Amino acid sequence: MTTSEQIFDTLVLPYLNHAVRMYEADYASVSDIDAGMRFGCGYAQGPLAVIDELGAASVRDRLAVRYAETGDRLHQPAELLEKLAAESGTFAALGADAGTAAPELKRDIAKVGVVGTGTMASGIAQVFAQSGYGVIYVGRSQEKLDGVVGYITKNLDRAIDKGKSTEDDKAAVLGRLTGATTRDALAEVDLVVEAIAEDLDVKLELFRDLDGICKQGAILATTTSSLPITQLGAATDRPADVIGMHFFNPAPVMKLVEVVTTPATAADVDETVKALCAKVGKVAVSCGDRAGFIVNCLLFPYLNDAVLLHESGVELVAIDAAIKETAGFPMGPFELLDVVGNDVSLAIQKELHGEFKEDGLAPAKTLEEKVAAGHLGRKTKQGFHSY
Ligand code: 3HC
Repeated sequence: MTTSEQIFDTLVLPYLNHAVRMYEADYASVSDIDAGMRFGCGYAQGPLAVIDELGAASVRDRLAVRYAETGDRLHQPAELLEKLAAESGTFAALGADAGTAAPELKRDIAKVGVVGTGTMASGIAQVFAQSGYGVIYVGRSQEKLDGVVGYITKNLDRAIDKGKSTEDDKAAVLGRLTGATTRDALAEVDLVVEAIAEDLDVKLELFRDLDGICKQGAILATTTSSLPITQLGAATDRPADVIGMHFFNPAPVMKLVEVVTTPATAADVDETVKALCAKVGKVAVSCGDRAGFIVNCLLFPYLNDAVLLHESGVELVAIDAAIKETAGFPMGPFELLDVVGNDVSLAIQKELHGEFKEDGLAPAKTLEEKVAAGHLGRKTKQGFHSY
């Protein structure tokens, strides 16, 4: 019998350690790491705040037990954790003086373009339209465009049912949406956010095309979660205007946007995008162009570990329940895998394994099998759970 506490130690402690290593490597600030997990995944606290609460020494000791069992370097307490444990230090103190001024809109953003018609594209179109922006969304067929309106209508109807919106608001939001089946419709937008297939060649072709279509000064953003944005920028004659805006699923609800700059991204583009995020009710964190950014880099190894734990004989429902109870996460790992999609999760895990070359990041066999069997999650009505 595996207790809830053992499940917590197996899944959550390595996640905390990984967050420490991310900070140690100078990839992101204390506040951006914590904000990432709070606003991207709906956690009450970020990992570094959790370590402060549990005490660095306690986390270090429990991780050391796990490391002795597994010998996996990912479980070896991070050096900084050892240091904080020895000195009774906290991440709150390390992150204390990192205040920055509120970003400003350095470029005018009046009209937004969205490319794609899937869940993320639909959610992103909804976010901008709800904040008063005219949105031109581009899909490959009228049927796909209708799907975007269907997604947004369903969300707005749910809000109306709950008394949080009105038919007038709904009409206004839908009235700001203009669908198009050709990209030429994006000629006059100030910002394009693309959320098409996670395939480098497909996105490269899109960026070359956008470079020819969009007016000078337009910001070209991608919501890729794993592809190199630097390469997308290099496919255009305006890499300074190319940036990542990584939204989270479901986009209308999750408040986080990871704003990913490449070495070529202009500072005014970065600042404008951050200011725009605030305007549409989102929280922006800064990331470099590296696989997984902040959130996926911390989240997916934990989800993969949950699959490995299940493979060792622990029931799915027991793991989901234990995590919600002990860590207070809004969803158990298998519930979340089914929302994200096992295909997407596998692709992200492969990227992380390729980038960080840690054996402990190799995708779990069951995750591969689920994808091969077409059990992708909620979207196929069968994933780890059935729907
Ligand atoms: N679209 C729009 N709105 C939705 C929605 C959806 N798909 N699902 C839920 N909502 C809204 C509800 O209408 C409700 O709105 P209200 O508060 O205004 O009434 C609100 O969200 C809360 O929904 P519920 O009360 O029905 O359900 P929960 O309290 O269980 O919340 C949840 C649902 C917000 C999805 C919550 O479970 C959660 O935060 N889950 C974590 C999701 C997560 O971790 N996402 C990140 C995945 S990783 C990723 O996206 C990266 C990518 O690269 C793969």
